[in-house]
Amino acid sequence: MKLTATLSALLSVAAVSASHNARDHQKRQASPSPPPPPSTTNPGGQAPTGALDPTESIALSQLTSGMPEREALTATTSYEAGATAPVSGAPALPTPFVFTPGVWPAQDVVPPTDSDEVKEWMKELEGFDIPDLSVTVEDAMCDSNPEAKAAAEERGWWTCAPGLTRDTDIINCPDKMTWGVSFDDGPSPYSRTVLKYLDEQDIKATFFVVGSRVIESPDILVEEYMAGHEISIHTWSHRHLTTLTTEEIVAELGWTRKAIQTVLGVTPTTMRPPYGDIDDRVRNIALAMGLIPIIWTRTPSGAQMDTEDWKVAGGLVTGSQSVDSFNAILGNASIMDTGFIVLQHDLYQVTVDLAVHFTLNSALSHDPPFTLKPIGECAGVPASDLYRESNTNSSFPIVEGEDTDVDGDGTPDTPGAGNENGGNGNGNGNGNGNGNDNGNNGGTGNGESDSPDAEGAASVASSRFGVVCLAAATLLGSLLV
Ligand SMILES: *[C@@H]1O[C@H](CO)[C@@H](O)[C@H](O)[C@H]1NC(C)=O
Ligand SMILES: *[C@@H]1O[C@H](CO)[C@@H](O)[C@H](O)[C@H]1NC(C)=O
Repeated sequence: MKLTATLSALLSVAAVSASHNARDHQKRQASPSPPPPPSTTNPGGQAPTGALDPTESIALSQLTSGMPEREALTATTSYEAGATAPVSGAPALPTPFVFTPGVWPAQDVVPPTDSDEVKEWMKELEGFDIPDLSVTVEDAMCDSNPEAKAAAEERGWWTCAPGLTRDTDIINCPDKMTWGVSFDDGPSPYSRTVLKYLDEQDIKATFFVVGSRVIESPDILVEEYMAGHEISIHTWSHRHLTTLTTEEIVAELGWTRKAIQTVLGVTPTTMRPPYGDIDDRVRNIALAMGLIPIIWTRTPSGAQMDTEDWKVAGGLVTGSQSVDSFNAILGNASIMDTGFIVLQHDLYQVTVDLAVHFTLNSALSHDPPFTLKPIGECAGVPASDLYRESNTNSSFPIVEGEDTDVDGDGTPDTPGAGNENGGNGNGNGNGNGNGNDNGNNGGTGNGESDSPDAEGAASVASSRFGVVCLAAATLLGSLLV
């Protein structure tokens, strides 16, 4: 109840701030530098402690939503146009991204569906079996969608049939005790703290990036990619995809794909649905657009391998509560036949601090040891297959046409992966789950698993305030205290 009240507070503040956010858009985009450190959210009146040194320890008790802000790190390496890509077969780095007003849709809202680009991308669905499932309502909450909930298994709706996945989904790292490292919702200035830590520990991760953040922090996306991390799609505005029309889903995926390709020169072949909200309609649209869905792992007891770091950012739990509950879930690693994919976020300072000072640190010193890998690598996908331009596997994602128009300008611009027969793939897998993920079928969906919904609020908050709108962030902080 308290949770619900807090979440609706978050959501209504998010709504109020949307217009403010839109007004700030042009100004923000005009600036090539990242937003200034949000020192206004420093409640204790302490001066910011300066650039965060990821080796510098911090007490877990300090990690709360109102913690003092520290300066985000600045870039230590710059990459020139033409630099050799870290992925075999990928094109050289393009010229640095320059934001052009009018080229990109508004940030953090579902892009319009009547653009030439979206019309072009809709053609990618031709020849694919996109099931005619109804659009869900109210942030895809199970109880608000009784018919869809009752049919969740037939619909392949992960949100309300917990544990239900399809054979085409990547849902774990196959090797036992392997930890798939992933960060959602960036790139953000705090991502650099993650990058520094990962570099020092020689760990690679997968970044599921939001298109609205990519056009805002393109240089940070370049740093992630050039450092050898995997880049995947996490939509344009971070909506529950089952609540969107087919055209809207195409717009969400298409614009994010285009933003990443423009910045990096490569187009991901994987995606993660925000909140894990996917059904067979969303799934097959993604597959038709050349994107394999990746979710995080559910344990045999039905718990999600979710660090719940977003709850700390949202002021719902303390840092130590988050660490304790994740450690309890993590105990399941020893009884699982496979490894697992973990959900973390790089949009907030506090979630980044949790990751580098606690979650990943304890993973590294765990006994028995975990092997930390990015998702594609842990799942056995060659790095080159993670991007359309370098992919050599004609059945990954699935057989696709040779005429994909990623930038949506009406001219095919990327070759398919050596495909002989284009456009007939049918991603409507009939497989029900993969082994360990079946433990909780028939659960009550959102009722027992508040993570997707709550992540919703936190993420809405994040995209609207976390980096974007500092005044609103202050307001959010005061509301949640
Ligand atoms: C598995 O996770 C649950 C939390 O969902 C926890 O209560 C349980 O103790 C864990 N099992 C093991 C063996 O650690
Ligand atoms: C190509 O992709 C398919 C589908 O994911 C996979 O089963 C197969 O092992 C891949 N082949 C290679 C050579 O990686």
